[in-house]
Order: sequence, then C-alpha cells, then structure tokens
Amino acid sequence: MATTVVNPLREGLRLARTPEPSTIVIFGGSGDLAQRKLLPALYNLALQRLLPAAFAVVGAARQPMTDDRFRAELRDAVARHSRTKPLNEEVWKSFAEHIHFVATPNDAAYDDLRRRLDDVDRELGTHANRLFYLATPPPAYAAIIEAIGAHGLRGETGWARVVVEKPFGRDLATAMKLTEIVHSVFREDEVFRIDHYLGKETVQNILVLRFANGIFEPVWNRQYVDHVQITVAESLGVEERAGYYEQAGAMRDIVQNHLLQLLALVAMEPPAAFDDRAVRDEKVKVLRALRPIRREEMAERAVRGQYDAGFIEGTRVVGYRQEPDVARTSSTETFVALKCFVDNWRWEGTPFYVRTGKRLPKRSTEIAIQFRIAPHRVFSREASAGLEPNALVLRIQPDEGISLKFGAKVPVQGIRIRSVNMDFVYGASFMVDAPDAYETLILDALRGDATLFTRRDEVEQQWTFVDPIIDAWSNAGAPPRYEAGSWGPAEADRIVERDGREWRKP
Ligand code: BG6
Repeated sequence: MATTVVNPLREGLRLARTPEPSTIVIFGGSGDLAQRKLLPALYNLALQRLLPAAFAVVGAARQPMTDDRFRAELRDAVARHSRTKPLNEEVWKSFAEHIHFVATPNDAAYDDLRRRLDDVDRELGTHANRLFYLATPPPAYAAIIEAIGAHGLRGETGWARVVVEKPFGRDLATAMKLTEIVHSVFREDEVFRIDHYLGKETVQNILVLRFANGIFEPVWNRQYVDHVQITVAESLGVEERAGYYEQAGAMRDIVQNHLLQLLALVAMEPPAAFDDRAVRDEKVKVLRALRPIRREEMAERAVRGQYDAGFIEGTRVVGYRQEPDVARTSSTETFVALKCFVDNWRWEGTPFYVRTGKRLPKRSTEIAIQFRIAPHRVFSREASAGLEPNALVLRIQPDEGISLKFGAKVPVQGIRIRSVNMDFVYGASFMVDAPDAYETLILDALRGDATLFTRRDEVEQQWTFVDPIIDAWSNAGAPPRYEAGSWGPAEADRIVERDGREWRKP
C-alpha cells in the first residue's frame, strides 16, 4: 500500500503560512481580473493546501447569476488560466463547494450580501473573518467601500481587511480622497493596496540578494555604482483594455507603481527587520528623496512615446491609434523613459534611468546595476577593447535570474580581455515552479501581512513624483511616435547618450 511521506520541515512551513478560517469577498467577481488572476491563484493555493478547511469565496457583481453558473464560469476560467494544468478535478470540486455568488445591482442588495456572509459563517465556521477584494473598475471603489460600511459587512466579530487594486487614484488628490473614503470604514493597517510586482518571486529576491548577503551592500552606492537602469518592456500592445488605458497611459499604468516600487527596492537602506513597517519605512524614504523633474528639465529627464504600426516577432501590428476603442487623435503615452535621482547620502549624483513601454521588441523586466570602471588602467587600451563595465543584472522576467558581467582573459597568447557573464538561473537552481504573484499576495492579505503591499504614504509619494510630469505633458501636444518593435522614440536614447551612456539591450 502506498504511503504519503510528509516532510516535517515543509509541513511546518505550510502550516505556518495557512491563514485562519476566513471568507474572501470579490467585488467584480465575474470580471476579467477575477477570472484571469484571482480565482486561478485561489485554486492554486487550495491545490497546495494553503487555504484553511473553513474557507469561502463570495463573488459579487451587478448582473444576477446562480451559484452554479458562477462556479461553472470560474471552472472554465481556472482551467484556462491556472499556472498548473490540467485542473485537478478533486481539488476543484471541494474548493467550488464553497464558492457563492450574490448580485449587487443596487445599494439594497448589500443586505443580501451581508446575510449570505452571515450564513457562510454559520455553516462553515469562518468566524466573520473577511477579506474584501475590490476587483472592479476604479470608479466603483468608493460606492463599494461606503456600502461595506453602511450595510455592516464587516461583521461583529472577526477581522476585516480590504484589498484595493491599482491604480490607487489617478493623481495625488484623488488618491488622498480615496484613502479618506477607505479610512471611513477600514483602519490603515486593514488596507492592502496591491502592486502585483511586489508579489513576484524575483522582485522579493531583490531584498534577499541585497540583505541576506554580505558582498553586495558595500558596493551598493554612489562610490561604486555608475548608474542603474530599470526596464519594464512589453511586446504586447494595449489589447482590449483601451477603455482603461486611454485614461491611464504608461505613466499611471506602470511608472507610478511597478517601476517606482522596483526603484525603491533597489535604492532603499537595509530595513531593521523584514516586516511591513520597517520595509515600507525604508521604501518611502527613497520615494521622498526622488528629485522632482521640473518643467524646465523635462527635455533632458522625461520622454514619452506612442507606438505606431510595426512588426513584433515578424508579425505586423497596428499603431496605438488604430487599436479598438482608441481615439484616432489620442495623445496617451505608451512609452516613458525618465532620468531619476535619489537625493540622499548613498545615491547623490547617481542616475537611475528607467523606461517602460508597450510594443517594444520583447517582454523583459530587468534591473541593471552598472559599476564604475576600474580606477587605474593596468592593461593597454588595445587589450581592454572588449571590456564592458561590470554590471549586475537582475532579470525579473522572463528567464528569471541574476548575472554578473566582468572582464576575463581570452585564452590566447598575450592579454586580451573580454566581458563574460556569471549566471544564476532560477529554473536551473530551484526545480520548482514559482508561485504566481497573486497567490503570494492573496495569501499574505489573508494572513494579515502587509509587507508586500503599498502603504498610504508610498502611494502618495509616487503620485507626488509623477503628477508634475503628467501635468507638463498634458499641455504639450501628442507624444513622439515610435515604431512597434523598436526600443521607443529616439528621444529616449538621447537622455542616456547625453550623459555618455547607452541603454542596455535586454
Ligand atoms: C499591469 C498593467 O499592472 O501590469 C498592464 O496594467 C501590464 O498594462 C501588466 O501589462 C504587466 O504585468 P506583468 O506581470 O505581465 O509584467
């Protein structure tokens, strides 16, 4: 007879990460985010036995639907989008038994939702522990929060937390207003503003690389680092999301959140502990130290672009203005490059060049720390011709890993130096599939750990930095164009070339 071998260490880790009995309430339960990300993540948590036995999912959306229909839709979505395939029927069956749907077409319907949540508590023993997830379009957030408060959805006992999807506001004023509304029902420590980049394994590994090792920190500063480059490149276009993207653009969609968070993790001081307060305190200090980009510096420090038609991997693609639901005269930017400075002791004078764009040649997110060249030239110019500056490259995705570029002697007579890479590849070193960012973040929110979520002051600092740039562009006509499949407009090259540097080719 087969016996299951339980590894006690793994089992201990699993139990330590299993949340208390609870219910997740997903507003926008039948929407795109829920279907593509949230339910596949929850199902994978169930598959790994990381959810408590007493756990329920309650979806809420305007259109009425039966529980059975909701479950059937989610089953299809999970089968399609889950990172693990094929669907494990046994796990899905027991998971799906605790999925419910409540229609909330109007305010009064929130009483139905409360009754359903109370029933779930009684039947399952979820103790009124509730995680509310706002997965609707942002304009609906305020009304939902108010309804949670007005209809007593928090429950009498148990904990209540709210996850708010990005973008959190569309500028500083609206972000502050939204926080005020959220705070009318939830305390700040109950608010989980999500930035899914923080849930990525390789993003968390930035902290591990820097603070679990002794060798990097001594050189992680202006004395040794020449500059830093952060690239978040996508080959995809706007797809079906023009309704949202036309209002957002690359600045609100990526720079304000994902990119500035990556910058903060690279630039922050070592936190005193790996906890929500210490880590976020250090990140916010970096965001506060970001040197504003003044209007008269825009030409040298900020570039935007919009993609034209072109080719991606040999396939012809249309320009942004020809995409469905995009205005033919749209001036929404699909590319941004910035030259940033962190004005503090560690980084004074060290440029952080950051860029993001859609319809770039490939999907690639990476952080490159480029070091200064050796202070004294021992080898001849001729011998060093093939030597590039030392660089530590953190590949966030795809081909997750880290490589260190340094010069090595070419094995021929005499000295010839060429750059080589020392490579760590996630897939080769760890033979496990990394969890999806949403699995990590939902689990953390259910456990009440906010370390990987953005705090109010971080979000506000991020807006404080980007608002004036967006504002300057709003009066400056249409962005320069770039051909789909290129690395952005020529102006983007100029902001680094002017400093005698160049963008890396990821
Ligand atoms: C989202 C943006 O936050 O991040 C999208 O809204 C973008 O426009 C996506 O495509 C990129 O995420 P990832 O995980 O694919 O790098």
